[in-house]
Amino acid sequence: MSSSDIYRELILDYYRNPRNFGKLDPRDIDARDSNPLCGDEVEIQIKVSADNKIGEIKFLGKGCAISQASASMLTELAKGKPLEWAKELSKEDILKMLGTSDLGPARIKCALLSMKVLKSGVYEYLGASMADTVDH
Ligand code: FES
Repeated sequence: MSSSDIYRELILDYYRNPRNFGKLDPRDIDARDSNPLCGDEVEIQIKVSADNKIGEIKFLGKGCAISQASASMLTELAKGKPLEWAKELSKEDILKMLGTSDLGPARIKCALLSMKVLKSGVYEYLGASMADTVDH
C-alpha cells in the first residue's frame, strides 16, 4: 500500500466512524462555519477546563470525507491542549495530522475548514474572557 493509500484509508475510517461526533451541554465555545465553495459545514463545541485547556471537545457537521475526517481528527488532537495551542495551529499541522502534503487547492479548503472553526471559536472565547477581566 502506498502512503497516499494509507492516508485515504485513514480519512475514510474517520469519515465513517467519526470520533468525538456530537454535542456538549453545557459548553463554553460553540463555533461553526461552512466552506463557501460547497456549503459543507463544521461546528465545534468545547468545554474549557479551569486551567484554560480544551477539556472536552465535540464536532458536528456534514460534508465531504476530508472536511469531516479532518474535524474528527482535530478534536482528538486538540483535547487537553491549552487554548493558546489552537491559536498557533497552521496549515502544515493539519496536513501532517492528515498524513498528506499533496492536496489540491479545493481539497485544502476542505481540510482546513475545521481549523478555521476551532480558531474562530477560541479567539471569540478569549476575546470575551478578556472583556470579562476588564469589566471586573
Ligand atoms: Fe465541501 Fe469538502 S467538498 S468541504
